[in-house]
Amino acid sequence: MSNYEFNFGQFKTKVSFCELDNLLPQTTSLIVADENTSYLIPDEMKESSVILPPGEIYKDWKSIEKILTKAVELELGRDANFVGIGGGVICDMTAFAASLFMRGCSVTLIPTTTLSMCDAALGGKTGVDFKDYKNLVGTFYPATELRICVDTLKTLEKREFLSGIAEVIKSAMLADNELLTYLENNRDNILGLKRESLEFIINSCIKVKGKIVEADLYERSIRAHLNLGHTFGHALETVTGFADFSHGEGVIWGIGRAMETSRELGIVNREYYDRVFSIINLYGYRTKANVDATKIINAMKLDKKKKGGIVKFILQTAPQETLIREVPEDILYKVIN
Ligand SMILES: NC(=O)c1ccc[n+]([C@@H]2O[C@H](COP(=O)([O-])OP(=O)(O)OC[C@H]3O[C@@H](n4cnc5c(N)ncnc54)[C@H](O)[C@@H]3O)[C@@H](O)[C@H]2O)c1
Repeated sequence: MSNYEFNFGQFKTKVSFCELDNLLPQTTSLIVADENTSYLIPDEMKESSVILPPGEIYKDWKSIEKILTKAVELELGRDANFVGIGGGVICDMTAFAASLFMRGCSVTLIPTTTLSMCDAALGGKTGVDFKDYKNLVGTFYPATELRICVDTLKTLEKREFLSGIAEVIKSAMLADNELLTYLENNRDNILGLKRESLEFIINSCIKVKGKIVEADLYERSIRAHLNLGHTFGHALETVTGFADFSHGEGVIWGIGRAMETSRELGIVNREYYDRVFSIINLYGYRTKANVDATKIINAMKLDKKKKGGIVKFILQTAPQETLIREVPEDILYKVIN
């Protein structure tokens, strides 16, 4: 797999595929991992590491403080390179801490979940949750390097693995028809963690996201397309208390609702609509949720209000044809029910 680079405004991100025994970059000043990924830290680097408890509830200021405290203890300077080894939580926090330390030192991300390989580690959004709001505090600070080793996925729980595949389906729908066909034809290889297949889908996703972010780092226009399925999905996660549906399962449910909205609006043809649902079914996702439509709609409105806007939806008319628009409430009730 070849290495390549993206240009995100004044930042450059190099993408490398690597082996388990060659996981770390040449300069590693400080490693951040969590208890589930700390096994990837070489013994000689343990002293220079911060190992955080796993999970979204630790995506907070306290963890950032731990990382920055370690950097001070190690007497690091502005030439330091912070290395994050973990899922989206660790990647977001390591890059956030790096963006703050000495007003910005370099950061290498080694994503270890499907979601972080395909999505979270690339594109520069960093941050922590704050006062019950997800990702409320953060910076735009793309990693200097992304090092991908698909072998790290072998220890990931199946449900987490599948959660990230939702983002692969989304990326394919948005911008890569070859990937969409690959997903249709290679289910067993992907779910069986066949290295070649994993590298193919992750590499494809990185290229889709990288291209979009190169065009719109600060999400002023087309970067919003990456939220396909997320408006509905986040509301489902909120209403069901983040327990019943994983993030990816919420996104897939949301993609289903977005496709049904497009059908109600008469803007998508039957063939593409059926194709999307057949891929969703192929990977065994649930397409139905027993939820109160009013609660979902209110959650979507509240979420948007917090972000100072009105609810707009990312919809598709055909593969790789995406638009953003408001949707009448009666249609929302129909597609949620
Ligand atoms: N910055 C962005 O653009 C962006 C995009 C999407 C999501 N995100 C963020 O990503 C986060 C979600 O990321 P996630 O789904 O990777 O969750 P996560 O980081 O919480 O990881 C999920 C679980 O898997 C464990 N884990 C990670 N790698 C493992 C491995 N190889 N083997 C065994 N266990 C492993 C973790 O310890 C954790 O318990 C959210 O906080 C979200 O806001 C950021």
